[in-house]
Amino acid sequence: MLRGTPSRLRASVASLLRTAEKDIVSSREKEDERKGFTMIPTVEWKDGVVRLLDQSQLPGRVEILECQDVESVVSAIRSLQVRGAPAIGVTAAMGIALGAQSILENEVSAFTRKILAVCRQFADTRPTAVNLFWAIERMKGVLQDGCHCTVPEVQSRLLQEALAIQREDVARCKTIGRRGATLIKDGYRILTHCNAGALATAGYGTALGVVRAAWEQGKKIHVFADETRPVLQGARLTAWELMEDGIPVTLITDNVAGTVMRQGKIDLCVVGADRIAANGDVANKIGTYSVAVLAKAHGIPFYVAAPSSTIDVATPDGSAIPIEERSGDEVTALNGGPWIAPKGVAVFNPAFDVTPAEYVTGIITEEGVLSPGQIAEKFQS
Ligand code: MRU
Repeated sequence: MLRGTPSRLRASVASLLRTAEKDIVSSREKEDERKGFTMIPTVEWKDGVVRLLDQSQLPGRVEILECQDVESVVSAIRSLQVRGAPAIGVTAAMGIALGAQSILENEVSAFTRKILAVCRQFADTRPTAVNLFWAIERMKGVLQDGCHCTVPEVQSRLLQEALAIQREDVARCKTIGRRGATLIKDGYRILTHCNAGALATAGYGTALGVVRAAWEQGKKIHVFADETRPVLQGARLTAWELMEDGIPVTLITDNVAGTVMRQGKIDLCVVGADRIAANGDVANKIGTYSVAVLAKAHGIPFYVAAPSSTIDVATPDGSAIPIEERSGDEVTALNGGPWIAPKGVAVFNPAFDVTPAEYVTGIITEEGVLSPGQIAEKFQS
């Protein structure tokens, strides 16, 4: 417990935060150097600001968005400047830590009321990725852990928790990668949908973590990336991310997935997830269900790679997963650019779909590769 006048306390907490920040950044840099991993961080805390790699600008422009307040972090999540289930969770945690720094209250109870309102703002951004709600609950846990702390101490603890969530996410992805790579043989041609890579997480990726780990083991693999209409996460992000790492990738339109499978060009499919229900049903980017059905029809294994923060045993099956519907503008105009449909046409634009467990060969988690039927027992809290 820190003691002293409020201004002294604030100064010592600020200095503690700076030291912790430096340690984390330098250990992360060392680790990245060792792995030869050069990706720009998706999300990071630097000098009291949340820095996001603006994914809405990729691959054309590599731009960093500096968020100085809660509103800009909330807006970045809503507008897909940061996206991907684990990355959304990490960003929300950082956004809550950022909000905490700006609350000028001396009483912990008044501070807590305000920070809970910030948590509600984040909970309102995107409904499907359960990692968001998981991260918010972790941050709320800091408020409830019974410590008799001052406001500056709670602020410091919230930041420490957000940084821990970020660190743990990278570690989970690396373990998922290692475990999943055992399923990949030399020469495999792998189909993926959307972007479940370093960009969708705090680093390394889930589905692309498996690809990355297999590549690092020296396996000669080739990825087929679905473009992933309407927001083109496959074309804009997966293709870019893999090319940055020198991993061979061929971009296909979503409509080509069946053809390459029928032509015998795909050995395995691996995708990420936004929420996995207790029975093993998987919510992921719209179009994942079609890929899974096609894979089953062609006898191709279909794997889902996801950390435990994506598993929601409180949701019994896929029918209870809330599916986000996004603006029809995403469908009628190409990436905010030229119109490709008549103005005023009715549009149905669900951002996610549910793949029933029967189509899923296995779920690659940091705890191992599980059958959908093993999820409930393994992750029951
Ligand atoms: O709408 P997005 O881009 O946030 O959707 C992302 C996906 O569906 C990913 O596949 C999923 O979040 C897994 S990311 C490791």
